[in-house]
Formats: sequence, C-alpha cells, structure tokens
Amino acid sequence: TETNDFVIDDDLVKHIFKPRKDFSHKGTYGKVVISGGSYGKIGAAVLATRSALKTGAGLTFTLAPKCGYDILQVSCPEAMFLEGGNQYVDHFDMEKDAVCGIGPGLGTHPETEKAFLSFLKNYSEPLVLDADALNMISKAKGNLKMIPKKSIITPHPREFERLFGSTVDSFERLVLARKKAKELNVYIVLKDHHTQVVTPEGNVFYNIKGNAGLAKGGSGDILTGLLTSLMAQGYSEEDACILGVWLHGRAADLAAEKHSQESMLPTDVINEFGNVFEELH
Ligand code: APR
Ligand code: MG
Repeated sequence: TETNDFVIDDDLVKHIFKPRKDFSHKGTYGKVVISGGSYGKIGAAVLATRSALKTGAGLTFTLAPKCGYDILQVSCPEAMFLEGGNQYVDHFDMEKDAVCGIGPGLGTHPETEKAFLSFLKNYSEPLVLDADALNMISKAKGNLKMIPKKSIITPHPREFERLFGSTVDSFERLVLARKKAKELNVYIVLKDHHTQVVTPEGNVFYNIKGNAGLAKGGSGDILTGLLTSLMAQGYSEEDACILGVWLHGRAADLAAEKHSQESMLPTDVINEFGNVFEELH
C-alpha cells in the first residue's frame, strides 16, 4: 500500500496554526486534564501542566495524588487540582468534556495500574498517552486494543520497544510503527533526535526542529502537555501532532540559543513557547 513521507516545514506549520479569535472565551479553547505525578515525581505533572497552560488551553486541570497538592497549586496557580489518590494515583475521576493527557510521572504502582486499565476500558475519546501510561499498557499484549481510536501515543525508543517489541534499526522501527498505527488506529509520535509522527494512514511526518539540549528528564513531559492542549483547542489529532512536535523543537532551539544546550531546562523551553507563537502570527 502507498504511504507518504513529509518533512514538517514552516509552511506546513503556518498552514495548520489557528490564531486566537477576538470574540472568544475560555470555553472556546477547551479543557485539559493532565493525569500524572506520584511521590517524588510530581515535577513531571508540573511540567506537563505548565506546558498546557503556556500553549493556549482554556482551562487546565491536573489529576494527581494529594502529596502533589501544594506543589501544583503554587507552581501552577492557573490550573485546578483533581485529587486522584494519596501518594500515587489510584482513581481517575476526569473532568467532563476534557481532553486527557496521561502518564508523566504517574508511576506504575499496582493500584495505579488497576485504576488506569479500568479507566481505559470504559473510555473511548481520543487522548494522549505517554511514559508510565504506556509502560502499564506494555505489561499485557491485550491492553493495546484498549487505547481509544485516534489517540496520540508518545513513546521514546525504549517505550516503543516495550509496547511493540524490538527492531534491529530505526528503519525497521518505523516500518513497525506504520503497521501498528494502522492496526490500532492511533497516532504514534516516535520521539527521537528527529521525531516522527506516524498516522493511522501510514503517513510519516518528520520533525527537523529541536536539539540535544532536550536530552534531559522532563522534555517529554512538556510535549505531553502541549499535545493535549492543542487537541483541547480543537486541532485534529494529526494537526496537533505536527504542530506540537514542531513547536516543542522550535522552542528548544530558541532556549538553546539563550542558555546553551547544556544549560537549558525544560522550563526554559516552556518559557520560549510565547516567542514561537509570535513567529507564527
Ligand atoms: N535531539 C533532539 N530531541 C531530543 C533529543 C536529541 N538529542 N533527545 C531527546 N529529545 C526530545 C525527544 O524527541 C522528546 O521529545 O526530548 C524529548 C524526550 O522525551 P522522553 O524521552 O520522554 O524524556 P523525559 O521527559 O525525560 O521523560 C520523562 O518519562 O519516558 C519517561 O521514564 C521516562 O522518567 C522519564 C519520564
Ligand atoms: Mg518521557
């Protein structure tokens, strides 16, 4: 079957980007729920939440364990807290009509796993799954079928291997990703130096922005918040993936110019999102 490969260039991104409308309100830009964090990994939920807040979502919630309450309220005062447990998440009571981004820092406690899998079984809207959400899905083959159609999954190479098995090189990995994206009817954001967006049609969009300053804990968490925020704002899953990986990479390039690849932090990347949006206007 015929498939196509595209490079994500500035023209494509400018075509996708929708500026905010004057006559609009927070309801226009959708609701996000970031579910993540566990004792010692609340920072992952903070980063994903801040990323959603700084990329245009109308209302942002964070579903996290109570041990993250003070941290989240102080570091992300614009976000609302949904309690999901004590030291780790053990129930997923989502806000209605929100787009969910699940996984950063979530942990894989057996009770988290039980709650997550039963949530997934009863949920059918497209969502963003990352990190420990993917790791829990990886534990049993049958779990893959529970991923809602048109969802976005964002594995790094190790997470990809846990989900779908090992491949000898990045070429074979992409062939497998195409097959799985079709089979499962999901978007796979294969995170790497040049991240690849693989669509259910088997098309691949290559991101050429970003740099090795992103090779640091927390960089993936901000991509999760960003993708969820774009979906909440009404971008199609495909457009959210393409615009999302480009924005993430471009913001990282601006952060590296200012701070160096060595010193830049995921927080610096979040703080460049504004300059990247200015470039798109
Ligand atoms: N060049 C360009 N981009 C890069 C590079 C590089 N050399 N290295 C990493 N990146 C980008 C990836 O494309 C991806 O978008 O940075 C992001 C890294 O994401 P993750 O690998 O998920 O890293 P991280 O944020 O640390 O993950 C946090 O989630 O995956 C789990 O167990 C993991 O605890 C970790 C947590
Ligand atoms: Mg990650």
